[in-house]
Order: sequence, then C-alpha cells, then structure tokens
Amino acid sequence: MIVVPRKRPAAVPGLITETSRAIREGTLSRGPEQRLFELALAGRLEQRHVRAVGSGRLALLLVMEALGVRPSATVMLASYNASCVPNVLQAAGYRLHFIDIREDTLHLDVDALPPTPPAGVEALIMTHMEGSPAPMAEVRAYADRHGLTLIEDAAHALGAHIHGEPAGALADGAIFSLGRGKHLNTLGGGLAVVPPTAAERLDRLVDRLNAPPAASLLKSSVMEGLVETGTTPALFGALAMPWMKLARRAGRDPMTALFEDDKSRMAAVPPELKVAFSNLQARFGLLGLESFDMQLARRRSHARRLIEGLADIVPMQRPVDGGTSAWLEVTALVDDRDALQTALLARGIDTQRTWMDACDALDAFSSASGPPCSVARSVGQRALYLPTYAALDDRQIDAVIKAVRAEVAS
Ligand SMILES: Cc1ncc(COP(=O)(O)O)c(C=O)c1O
Repeated sequence: MIVVPRKRPAAVPGLITETSRAIREGTLSRGPEQRLFELALAGRLEQRHVRAVGSGRLALLLVMEALGVRPSATVMLASYNASCVPNVLQAAGYRLHFIDIREDTLHLDVDALPPTPPAGVEALIMTHMEGSPAPMAEVRAYADRHGLTLIEDAAHALGAHIHGEPAGALADGAIFSLGRGKHLNTLGGGLAVVPPTAAERLDRLVDRLNAPPAASLLKSSVMEGLVETGTTPALFGALAMPWMKLARRAGRDPMTALFEDDKSRMAAVPPELKVAFSNLQARFGLLGLESFDMQLARRRSHARRLIEGLADIVPMQRPVDGGTSAWLEVTALVDDRDALQTALLARGIDTQRTWMDACDALDAFSSASGPPCSVARSVGQRALYLPTYAALDDRQIDAVIKAVRAEVAS
C-alpha cells in the first residue's frame, strides 16, 4: 500500500551541522546571517524593508504599530482565519470586525465589505489564504476610499504572485510566518515587511526585542529532527499509522498536536515567540532559500495534479485570475469530513482538517462586530487539506486522487 503522511515539514538543511557550528562559534543567537537573511528576502519582495522576528504573530503586531494603527482601533479581517490572528490582535487591544469569505477562493469577500466601514475601523487585513494570493487591487481601492491601512497576512504565501507582483509587497505592510508547517521552515519565526517610510519605526521596535535563549533554540532543533524522522513514509506507515487508526476510532486525531499550536495558549503571543530572530534561524533560512524555488515548483505541480484530478467531483479552492498560488495547502470541501478522513486513512492516505476556524462563531470573539459569516462557518465544517508537500512524488499524489475519487463515489 502506498502510504502518504498528511504533512512533512519542509526539511531544514544543515539542521545538525549548522547547530553544532553555531554552538562552536558562539553565534546561536546573534551573528552576521541575521541581516543577510533579511536582505535576501527583501530581494524577493521588491526591496521592501524586511525584519525577521520570533513569529508571524509578533510580526503582525509590530507592523501594525510601525504603520501607526492605534491599539484601540477596529480591524477588519476575514472570519475564516487562523484564530491566533484575531486572538493576538484582541489581546493587544484592537477591536475586531469580521467579514465573510468566498467559497471558491476562500478569501475575504470584497463584496461583503460594508459600503462604509463602521466608526473606529482603521485597518483591513487581507489574508492570502493557504498561499493563494488575494485580489489586492480590489481591496486597495476600498482601503484608499476609506483611508484604511491595508495589511497583507502572507503567513502562507511566500513565493505567491499576482499579476507578476509578489504577495507581501502589495499593501501598506505585510507579514509572513516561518513556522514548521510553512514553506520556509526556520523552526519558527516571522517576517515583518513595511515600505521604506516606516522602516525606522519598525527597526526601533525590532531592535528592542530580546534574543531567544540558547536552550530553547537547541530544544527546537532536537524536536525538528524527531518530526523529520517520524514523518518519513516508511516509519510513519509502520509506527504512526496503526496508532492513528485506533485513535480515529475513538474520535481523536493525535497528529494534529504535532503541527498545530495548542489553541489554549494562543490568546496572546506566547513569550517564547515574542523574541528576536536568532542567527541560527537565519542560517537555516539562507540555506532553505537555496532550494526554495524548486520545492515550490513541486508543490505547484502537485496542487495542479490534485485539482485537475478531483475538481469534477469535489469543490476545491481555486486561485484568483492572475494569481500564482504558493499552495501551503490544497483544500477540498467535503460534507462528511470525519468519515472521509477515516476511510482515506484505511487506504494509507492521511489528511488534515483545516487549521482555520470561522472566528466570528467562536466564544473568544463574542465582542467582535460584523454580521454572522455563513460561508465561513460552512467552509470551517467542510474544509479538508489534501497532502501536497514537496517531498511527495507523483505516484503518491495519484494515490491520493484515486483514494478520494473511490471514497467520494462510494
Ligand atoms: C493566516 C495566518 N496568519 C498568521 C499566522 C501566525 O504565524 P506564526 O505561527 O508564525 O505566529 C498564522 C499561523 O499559522 C496563520 O496561519
């Protein structure tokens, strides 16, 4: 049987050698690669000002502050979202106004924006959902009309383009995430991106951050090694698969905890993510960038194959016109998601329900404004990620297509 684990973190090149070298040289926390990494990314983002920090969440709060969005302001954002985003905004004092999404692209629905933003709205966050670039020109016009600061949440979208322009250079500011599940895995981290006019303000905020403790960097390296080993298909099939099949019978999905942060700890940016970006992470980043485009090309090829192979029987997320997605995930919308996941697992295919939530329906955001977001709620119940990471080969992708087709048709 062909075994397909749901996810393999993008391999961290030089995990052991670079960690040992940094210990020897005393450059775990601080060193010359930090700036080199930021400059390498600026080169991919039309020379915007880029600073790397401890997480995408921290980057978002710093970008908002650098762009002068006041902490008591209201922020509009899509309801179907990573709940950590509205969580950290709320914890920082921002008010939330949720907007519904489109079912075909999973982006904030520009047509659902109120003709005039409610009083107090100062910013609009547009998320390039699962790496698919959002229609920025349309929201840019809305933001300009109403004097709003427009921010791209490009956490999923490193390498995505729309009409030839890179996601992350299309608004007043942007953020990326460099976490374990993302395209460029630096054992966690985030990028804050602003135009030159806000560079000095961003620098002042970033330069105040403490370096991450050496012990936590070493712990992340060891954990990463374990996850990389544990998700090789052979080991996964022999060890994890039988255990997961049992757990699913009891209605549990133990793999989720490996890739998803503990949501009970997400209310604010956790202290270990509220730090500077270390030199060791920057080294991993620079090495990762060397094979980044090749890995992205593989993901794109897998995504195309999955969509072409399944879109006639299952609704799938589609890129917008002119958009070239970075495909962090390929999303299918299925009615009985749990049953399908159990059936696919029996065929060797491990899948993951969406990480996103319909945030307007969560108790944590009961004080948010905006109408009920019915599309987001429906998508939240149905969205299923199909494996699409670069380490897969065409044979495995075809096995996914075959298994989904067989189960959906049955
Ligand atoms: C859409 C989105 N924005 C922001 C973030 C935050 O990134 P980080 O985990 O690096 O803080 C995430 C995390 O996955 C995300 O999915």
